Amino acid sequence: MIDFGHFYQQIAIGPLSHWLETLPCQIEQWKKTTQHGQFNSWQKIVQNLPNITPTDLDLKTAVMAKNEYPLCPKEKQRITQLLKSLMPWRKGPFSLYDIDIDCEWRSDWKWQRILPYLSPLTDKLVLDVGCGNGYHMWRMVGEGAKMVIGIDPTQLFLCQFAAVRKLIGNNQQAYLLPLGIEQLPSLAAFDTVFSMGVLYHRRSPLDHLYQLKNQLVSGGELILESLVIDGDENQCLIPNDRYAQMRNVYFIPSAKMLKIWLEKCGFCDVYIVDQTVTTLEEQRKTAWMETESLANFLAPNNIHLTVEGYPAPLRATLVAKKR
Ligand SMILES: C[S@@+](CC[C@H](N)C(=O)[O-])C[C@H]1O[C@@H](n2cnc3c(N)ncnc32)[C@H](O)[C@@H]1O
Repeated sequence: MIDFGHFYQQIAIGPLSHWLETLPCQIEQWKKTTQHGQFNSWQKIVQNLPNITPTDLDLKTAVMAKNEYPLCPKEKQRITQLLKSLMPWRKGPFSLYDIDIDCEWRSDWKWQRILPYLSPLTDKLVLDVGCGNGYHMWRMVGEGAKMVIGIDPTQLFLCQFAAVRKLIGNNQQAYLLPLGIEQLPSLAAFDTVFSMGVLYHRRSPLDHLYQLKNQLVSGGELILESLVIDGDENQCLIPNDRYAQMRNVYFIPSAKMLKIWLEKCGFCDVYIVDQTVTTLEEQRKTAWMETESLANFLAPNNIHLTVEGYPAPLRATLVAKKR
């Protein structure tokens, strides 16, 4: 069973200790309700993976683990099969003992784009909201963060995170909790909060920004990454039904409007640091994610439009400070 007891011990002393008043109850409640039909089989897959402590672990330039002596072919095949049973792998890539998990997204490209604009993460307490399978969390650990906590309600991603964790030496600096942002109390404890790829999924985006602000210490930094449209500060797309085939997309503002939203919510020093069109090389079908991907979500004869006729995905990153 994926167990959170060790996490509770880790936060018992320090700025997150008051979270223990509510978190264990919430997790117990989560265990009793709304489990995905495959959750138990995913957990068994994780149980069947070995605990390996690599002799060579790189979380700074990639998520890569190696041993002085390579895995024997049979064990490599067994681990590959177990990891494949946790498909689809969306965020990555991971290179674990020469098993290359080529995920749908080149999440390392996003990380390379945003890293130059972050305040150093060394010794920081970091929250990654909507962390997916935790790919970026490992990169945050690689940048020297003291502890990284990710929250994401998708149970497959929790299991993928647990799988990677077992294979890279049960690292104790990163923890993923199966919670949505709306379930967090106002912790006011994190030095840096990331929200990447989440805002457009929220029905109330300004409330999302307030929820993020409530997690930061005074002077703390928010890194907000979201879908945007090209346009001035008065423009926002509210897709009628689906956007790029996704049902749960609510608000896609221009980056300039997003900056105003952040300022309206009381953030200061707000900067738009990056805007990048998502390419067919960055998001694509792979051997580890075999269903439809960006190529299927764009208009057949026009890569500038989605199948619904909206502007194709453009993503912006903003950094902001809590006063
Ligand atoms: C587009 S993915 C982004 C993953 C990762 N942050 C990245 O940038 O690559 C959005 C993630 O948000 C998660 N999510 C959905 N609703 C959420 C909520 N209420 N609170 C936190 N995360 C949520 C989804 O499970 C999904 O993993």
